Amino acid sequence: MLKNSLTKALSEQVNAEFYSAYLYFAMSTYAHRAGFKGFANWLYVQSQEEMAHGVHIYQYLLDRGATPAFTDIAVPPAEFDGLQPVFEKVLAHERHVTELIDNIASIAQRESDHASYNFIMWFVNEQVEEEATAEEILSKIRLIGDNSALLYTLDTELAARVFTNPFTATAATA
Ligand code: FEO
Repeated sequence: MLKNSLTKALSEQVNAEFYSAYLYFAMSTYAHRAGFKGFANWLYVQSQEEMAHGVHIYQYLLDRGATPAFTDIAVPPAEFDGLQPVFEKVLAHERHVTELIDNIASIAQRESDHASYNFIMWFVNEQVEEEATAEEILSKIRLIGDNSALLYTLDTELAARVFTNPFTATAATA
């Protein structure tokens, strides 16, 4: 049975992951409206990944006999001042999520819940990649500046991203 502290923190993380999905969905909509279909695709795939993260944590709560607590999901911003501000927000948001995940790892350690610690370590590692990817795209956008030909090239590159659920095996057995 999961301790209350972990049930609470993991339930909040389900909400945080769903908010992330909502936020990237809103950003994807903005990019789509601005004519950057590749950026829109990348952000939409990111949104799908966040949904998968939330569902995976939700399933873990159920597997441990806990009842996930549902709370309101905040409304994301609808307007952004360009692609650079979008990816500055993506990076800032991922850094925030890293703090949330690290906090869960600390709680699991404090509670000597080795299964939860092991579970959350996947997300600890995932956050390294999440931050690195956001930083990489942001750096490219900064380098490109006003060069519309290079921006088009990056848009085409981001159009190739395809969603693959990292937890397919888990989902299949749920
Ligand atoms: Fe679920 Fe982007 O972290």
